[in-house]
Amino acid sequence: DAGDPEAGERVFRKCQACHQVGEDAQNRVGPVLNDVFGRAAGGLEGFNYSDAMVAKGEEGLVWDAESMAAFLKNPREYVPGTKMSFAGLRKDQEVADVTAYLQQYSGG
Ligand code: HEM
Repeated sequence: DAGDPEAGERVFRKCQACHQVGEDAQNRVGPVLNDVFGRAAGGLEGFNYSDAMVAKGEEGLVWDAESMAAFLKNPREYVPGTKMSFAGLRKDQEVADVTAYLQQYSGG
C-alpha cells in the first residue's frame, strides 16, 4: 500500500536513537534526515560519514523512495561498509510508511 506518514512516525521510533528530523534537529549518531530526499548519499555537510557512504554518493547515489527502500531493507548489503548499525526494516509496509513520514521533512 501507499505509505502512511502517521504510521511512519511510529516506525521512525526505531530510527530516533540515532536520527532527528524537524525544526531544531541535530546530528547525533546519525545525520539529520531533513531534506534527505534528493540529496546525494553522504552529502550532509558537517556529518562524519563512513568512507563507504561518501563513495556511494560520489558514484551517483541520490536518496529517493526507491534507493531509500533498498537501503532500509538491508543497510549493510546496499552500502557495504556503512557505519549505520541497524539491521533494517523487515516489512515493505514499514519502509513505505517511514518514507512517507520522512518525505514530509523534505523539499518543503
Ligand atoms: C545514515 C535512515 C536507523 C545510524 C542514514 C541515511 C539514511 C538513514 C537515509 C543516509 C543519510 C545520508 O546519506 O545523509 C535511517 C532510518 C532509520 C535509521 C529511516 C530507521 C528505520 C538508524 C539507527 C542508527 C543509524 C538505529 C544507529 C544505530 C546511522 C549512521 C548513518 C546513517 C551512523 C551514517 C552511515 C554512514 O556514514 O555509513 N540513515 N536510519 N540509523 N544512519 Fe540511519
